[in-house]
Amino acid sequence: PRVAVVFGGRSSEHAISVVTAGAVLRAIDRTRYDVLPIGITTDGRWALTADDPDRMAIADRRLPSVEHIAEPGTGGVLLPVNAGSSEVVYAEAGSVPKDLGEVDVVLPLLHGPYGEDGTLQGLLELSGVPYVGAGVLASAVGMDKEYMKRVFDSYGLPVGPYTVIRPRAWERDPAAARAQIVDFAAEHGWPLFVKPARAGSSMGISRVTGLDGLDAAVEEARRHDPKVIVESLLTGREIECGVLEFEDGPRASVPAEIPAVSSHDFYDFEAKYIDSAEGIVPAPLTEEQTARVRELAVAAFDAVSCEGLVRADFFLQENGEFVINEINTMPGFTPISMFPRMWQATGVDYPELVDRLIQAALC
Ligand code: DAL
Ligand code: MG
Repeated sequence: PRVAVVFGGRSSEHAISVVTAGAVLRAIDRTRYDVLPIGITTDGRWALTADDPDRMAIADRRLPSVEHIAEPGTGGVLLPVNAGSSEVVYAEAGSVPKDLGEVDVVLPLLHGPYGEDGTLQGLLELSGVPYVGAGVLASAVGMDKEYMKRVFDSYGLPVGPYTVIRPRAWERDPAAARAQIVDFAAEHGWPLFVKPARAGSSMGISRVTGLDGLDAAVEEARRHDPKVIVESLLTGREIECGVLEFEDGPRASVPAEIPAVSSHDFYDFEAKYIDSAEGIVPAPLTEEQTARVRELAVAAFDAVSCEGLVRADFFLQENGEFVINEINTMPGFTPISMFPRMWQATGVDYPELVDRLIQAALC
């Protein structure tokens, strides 16, 4: 089968997606799959790229980008082609669309808005091309921290306290929005985490310990998304669990624990990717706790109607109860990422993982 590996993208997680794609290009079984690497630049142009994993890794603390590996003169926009043809076409402004030929399946290795949020999935639905992972609705819900919590809550999954500052509220009456946050803090205590509602990889997140810095935190979050979510600090241990869909349904991996990183306020972008904070796999939990978190991870997968895969992130609180923090419908797949490491520990190695995902999308 011919697999279009689509990566990069317009979100602030561009570089992580490139690293993920590099690892997938390295691992994918070339005797079974014909690979078409398609990068999306940070300004949204689609381009054929070099099939060169070495140039897609983090080197000397420098992050890779599609711009650096795009084939010259191939930047354009992907056009939704006729449903059922599975033909991928892209066009540059003012030129004739170029036919990239038939594609059997798209592997959308994109994180964050314009990729992991249902927008790309919608384009692929329009085109009638099968793709790996969550569909339009699950992708959109999984990207929006407000609706994700609402769905979890309605299915009885434990979520932490939060309050939402909608774009209009902040723009029209910031004093009232600020008062709403202060009321929330009065009930749940400081510090608060101020986050863009739709972003990933800890982008735009600030930890706020009091009124000072609150406005700056909201503005910082709004640089990523005009909708802001404010959460109270969830104390406890950070536990993650992978879910993969098998022929007989979704199954959870062994869980992992993200140790607190002393030099970082929380598991932020730098801790994750530059300093590659090491997760512990499997997480040192009791048998009962392990069973519980695996059950919750599958319940989260089902609550949002995920497909293919998901990584569910939890806090194990001091009272022994798990709270679900979020899911990622296209979790990082870099060599140091938790999702592939958790599956490795569960008996599914990286090449098999990639293969399973593609096969699931094909049938
Ligand atoms: N959003 C990043 C890529 C992750 O969850 O792994
Ligand atoms: Mg995320």
